[in-house]
Amino acid sequence: MGEFGASAQTTAPVHARLDKVDLTFALGPDGHPTYAVAYGAKTVVEPSRLGLAFADGRGFDGPLVLVGSETQDVDESWQPVWGEVKTIRNHYQQLTVHLRQPAANGRRLDVVFRVFADGVGFRYEVPAQPGLAYFTVQDEHTEFNLPANHKAFWIPGDYDSNEYAYTTSRVSEVNTTPIAAIQQKAPATRVQTPLMLKSDDGLYINLHEAALVNYPAMFLNVNTHTFCLTSQLVPDATGTGAKAYLQAPEHTPWRTIVVADNAPAVLASKLILNLNEPSKLPDTGWIHPQKFVGVWWEMHVNRASWNYADTSNLKLAGTNWNALKNNGHHGANTANVKRYIDFAAAHHIPGVLVEGWNVGWEDWANNWKEEVFDFVTPYPDFDVDELQRYAAGKGVKVIMHHETSASVTNYERRQDAAYRFMRDHGYDAVKTGYVGRIIPRGEHHDGQWMVNHYVHTAQLTAASHIMVDMHEAVRPTGLHRTYPNWLANEAARGNEFNAWSSGNPPEHETILPFTRLMGGPMDYTPGIFQIKLDDWNPARNQGKQVHTTLAKQLALYVTMYSPLQMAADLPEAYNQHLDAFQFIEDVPVDWDDTRILAAEPGDYLTTVRKAKGKDEWYLGSITDENSRQQPVSLNFLTPGQRYEATIYADGKGADWLKNPMAYRITRQVVDSRSSLTLQLAPGGGAAVSFKPVIK
Ligand code: NOJ
Ligand code: CA
Repeated sequence: MGEFGASAQTTAPVHARLDKVDLTFALGPDGHPTYAVAYGAKTVVEPSRLGLAFADGRGFDGPLVLVGSETQDVDESWQPVWGEVKTIRNHYQQLTVHLRQPAANGRRLDVVFRVFADGVGFRYEVPAQPGLAYFTVQDEHTEFNLPANHKAFWIPGDYDSNEYAYTTSRVSEVNTTPIAAIQQKAPATRVQTPLMLKSDDGLYINLHEAALVNYPAMFLNVNTHTFCLTSQLVPDATGTGAKAYLQAPEHTPWRTIVVADNAPAVLASKLILNLNEPSKLPDTGWIHPQKFVGVWWEMHVNRASWNYADTSNLKLAGTNWNALKNNGHHGANTANVKRYIDFAAAHHIPGVLVEGWNVGWEDWANNWKEEVFDFVTPYPDFDVDELQRYAAGKGVKVIMHHETSASVTNYERRQDAAYRFMRDHGYDAVKTGYVGRIIPRGEHHDGQWMVNHYVHTAQLTAASHIMVDMHEAVRPTGLHRTYPNWLANEAARGNEFNAWSSGNPPEHETILPFTRLMGGPMDYTPGIFQIKLDDWNPARNQGKQVHTTLAKQLALYVTMYSPLQMAADLPEAYNQHLDAFQFIEDVPVDWDDTRILAAEPGDYLTTVRKAKGKDEWYLGSITDENSRQQPVSLNFLTPGQRYEATIYADGKGADWLKNPMAYRITRQVVDSRSSLTLQLAPGGGAAVSFKPVIK
């Protein structure tokens, strides 16, 4: 066997440790690589297989030989362009193991582990080597072998959508059949990451990935008997089961295991961001976190339409749009957009999103049509130049909308022209969307081909100094560190589901921070004040309402971190409650500090954040369907400084179902020795601003 012969010294287990977290790497008796993770005396992951299978049958899923390993200690700090805290510590011990596969002429593979105080990240690295240039990953054999039947917060493993409500069950009870019978052509035990777990012995564990680039997203197949979770990569559209086409040297994304003995520590973890590369943008001064309003909710509540004409099946090319009859309820008309610009300007909101401004909406979504939008042709009643002039005069910017209708090759052909059009017309932010089956080949939204499209779009927009918010894209994995113009994603079940579906249960927003938000900010679109939706369209919205109290909508601006936050309701809804709207007007979207004061997934969450560059604090507290009393000690405030606390609370008798709009605003002077007791209604919440009292 020569140089590949296993020697007694090199097969002994190797470790990396930091504080309570201990990572063990070992080759099993059969030569298969395994890892295990402990947190103090508790087992997080029992010995679990690692491996990559290649399409040529000579990957790294057979017996391997350990040829060496080394560790490295890193402790450094960095400052995000925007974020929840000003400075982030990146402290870990790295272990690199070098493996060879005798059966494939000694092909080499490294596995790199980083052990942090709050968990572990690891990835496979295929070094440049003779005889291995291009290769196809057929499967990844990464296991997360759980020691017990934990409680899990999961959504089904749909390769094209994350827009599901969470189920809370034991791992043994994972069964997606009743939830996604139609969409999911997959085993009933496949779930998505971030997967949140809680053990009976008090550990909070989150499984996800970091830096998803040039690779498909990882799903998890659940063995409901052994509690072993196995990686499942999203296949491509060829039907051969191929997952990723790569060229050495290349590496996979990081597989992440965040672990803590309390729930707030999971939310405070920066492990996923730390595993992403620093910003690749040469200059970031043009990037600005922001709030926005938009011609948007009025379409979702059936008061206006995206499309201009009622005619269907029009051809994009050759249509004389000016000859079409306006359907009378097209939302994106110049006068209506001006109304939103006026409201934004009056309330210091910098952005106005306009959907339905461009031709193509008569014939979009799920028609398997390649040419649908061109992204540069407005409807006749949307005056781009006039709106550019009007918005600039008011210090507001219109936010572009690029619904691609999932026709991705069409979008890619037109992206250069579309971004030039934006620059020429004063737009510096775009919301993209991928509704429907991906055209032309039916790739999955979460496969390698689309992952590359999203990253490419982040790069292309950055080159034009454009900020981007992607809907229906793969769930984030911390890439906003690398591309800070990528402000947010949807990639979960947003507030819009409350407009036209069975809605989101009141616990939904207490789970999202532990799941979807672990990878990055979400464009959740909070701020709905007109909670009963019949009022907008009695015929079509009968009995529909958002599953919240009004005060809880305010709290979401703090509990759901994002540098991009919509005030999603209509100006006429806000004008009825300007006293409550004051909180939305005041609340920042960029922070110097964040403290998670109380949290339990599925039950409650209380977060307080310090405004960027100011001694102002904002608190959000939310509960599930149960009412709660939340005591809050104000010891985060600067000692010796007095603050005016404005408390936006659920009103007397408030209840998400029966009395959602009752709220009460009170003021009191407080300091760091004070405390508050917040009363949260069933499905409710509270928001508080703390502003220094100037003596
Ligand atoms: C789905 C997006 O999530 C929503 O925000 C948008 O309004 C529609 N698609 C239309 O593009
Ligand atoms: Ca609950």
